[in-house]
Amino acid sequence: MQTSGKRKENKAKEMSRSQTIAFFLRGSVRFFVIGVILSLLVALLDMIGPKIVQYTIDYVLGDEAGPTAIAQAAITAAGGREYIRTHLYIPAGIVMLIAAISALCRYLYRVFSSMGAEKLIRRMRDELFAHILRLPVSWHAQNHTGDIIQRCTSDVETVRNFLSEQMMTLFRVGILVGFGLFFMISISPALTAMSAVFVPIIIGYSVFFHNRIAASFLKADEEEGKLSSIAQENLTGVRVVRAFGREQYERERFETQNRGYTRMWIRLMAWLSAFWCSNDLISGSQIMLVIAMGAVFCVHGRITVGQYIAFVSYNGMLLWPVRELGRVISDMSKAGISIDRIRYIMNSEPESLRTDTDESLGTEPLDIVFDHVSFSYDESTEVLHDVSLTIPAGTTLGILGATGSGKSTLIHLLDRLYDLPDDGGTITIGGRDIRSMDRHALRKYIGLVLQEPFLLSGTLAENISITKPGEPDMDAVRAAARVAALDETVSRFTDGYETYVGERGVTLSGGQKQRTAIAQIVMADTPVMIFDDSLSAVDTQTDARIRHNLRERTAGSSVILISHRITTLMQADNIVVLDHGRIAEQGSHDELLAHGGLYRQIYDIQTSY
Ligand SMILES: Nc1ncnc2c1ncn2[C@@H]1O[C@H](COP(=O)(O)OP(=O)(O)OP(=O)(O)O)[C@@H](O)[C@H]1O
Ligand SMILES: [Mg+2]
Repeated sequence: MQTSGKRKENKAKEMSRSQTIAFFLRGSVRFFVIGVILSLLVALLDMIGPKIVQYTIDYVLGDEAGPTAIAQAAITAAGGREYIRTHLYIPAGIVMLIAAISALCRYLYRVFSSMGAEKLIRRMRDELFAHILRLPVSWHAQNHTGDIIQRCTSDVETVRNFLSEQMMTLFRVGILVGFGLFFMISISPALTAMSAVFVPIIIGYSVFFHNRIAASFLKADEEEGKLSSIAQENLTGVRVVRAFGREQYERERFETQNRGYTRMWIRLMAWLSAFWCSNDLISGSQIMLVIAMGAVFCVHGRITVGQYIAFVSYNGMLLWPVRELGRVISDMSKAGISIDRIRYIMNSEPESLRTDTDESLGTEPLDIVFDHVSFSYDESTEVLHDVSLTIPAGTTLGILGATGSGKSTLIHLLDRLYDLPDDGGTITIGGRDIRSMDRHALRKYIGLVLQEPFLLSGTLAENISITKPGEPDMDAVRAAARVAALDETVSRFTDGYETYVGERGVTLSGGQKQRTAIAQIVMADTPVMIFDDSLSAVDTQTDARIRHNLRERTAGSSVILISHRITTLMQADNIVVLDHGRIAEQGSHDELLAHGGLYRQIYDIQTSY
């Protein structure tokens, strides 16, 4: 794993395709090099078998004159011509031995290339995951989760196949064809020419065909994506589907999509079958031509019987790999798209966690000042306009405002989940611009209960003590749960604090989740605590109890409370009323009531029944 500083250097310039590949190949390239060496060995060994058969037929069984020096040496080494004639199992045994060594090399080739492939894919997943974790929230808001997952799974798979299978096949077949052609030419250049004429035809036809149907494959992938998103939507939204009685509609939607998808694959398969049949025809013609012309050459004495048999073996040996090559070359074009999709993630600028002026913010609350803060998520609509407010150290600020008035945005800016542009005013803590602060230190200083809390898979205790590494300190967990009025609820669970929550655990109610999130922040015990509408899902009595507990527990900390309920905020030292991203009023509860503005109106409505 790289240090963040080093990674930052990497990010300074965008990685090109080849740089991306080189980056991911670090650590696995040696396995692929061994794989290439092994395939060289396999190709060489495969060439020897037909040669032995040829020598045996021509010089041992037959009376061909003038064996080559190599053939003569081999025959002598095996015991001489007469001896081999009466002991024919010798050449047969050698052929089998070579086949066995070749099989062993093939096995090792597979082992090494799979090791390379697995190491490669592990590195890709690790690097992508680490990088995605560091990308800003705004990046995540712009990119669909499904798409990101697709890039991290099927695109990663495509790139892995490209490097570990397609590139390796290219090397393997290249070596095999090179050796094969050499041996074939040494037997008969004319016959080799006839055989080789078909090679570009077979590869060209295959590339042409696969390129033609590439669009259909892409479409089939998209259709599959649509099908799974219907299924996924129905699984996650099962309650909505049931509540609105949409089962029939959803079923038909799924069946229509499924029907279209099936039809598409049937058509694709028909095309593929046609391709393979025609390809078989071309290859079959090539074999027949070589056999027929070889026989003619043989009869005319241009080649010997042994050479004829060896030639036909070499030809057969090359045909399949050449056909494979056509498919691989066309598949390789897909890898480019996948690499680009992965590069998009790797080249996205991550949040910088460390800055040069890195220093801890300490454990004491400091004054927080928003100075003429304006912000928009996109260029068109400004969400906050010229907001200026001060939260003196150790005081409580209440923020009231209609939905969409910018309350959450304000605190997301303070926590640097979104960054304030240079011309958008300043936010300072203890007089220091938060832009110059280390995000990690900032987030350790500010405890934030998000409006939509999310629990990670694990036990309740692990979730509550999420900010403390290591085994949960159960006394502290219990104390935090008591403050959040969660202790009674937990005592009703059979497993208590060991209850498993999160994706595959017990489903907590909205209020229980909120209170768990409050307990998390209480446990973190940060100098600044922010509660974004964190008491919305609890009844007024529990709300009052939690606020009472919090006041005791957070005495001395700066607190920001966001709520739609005036009772939740009224004890705050200062209350800000946000209206369409502007501060409409601010002051204490009594001041605001006396002022008779928006706050007063909301108060009257909330207390009138
Ligand atoms: N990630 C985002 N991208 C674009 N626009 C956003 C984003 N988040 C919020 N907005 C918009 O910004 C405005 C303010 O949203 P914000 O979440 O700050 O409101 P809020 O006051 O917290 O509302 P609520 O009381 O409903 O939580 C809204 O109009 C919303 O549509
Ligand atoms: Mg909000």
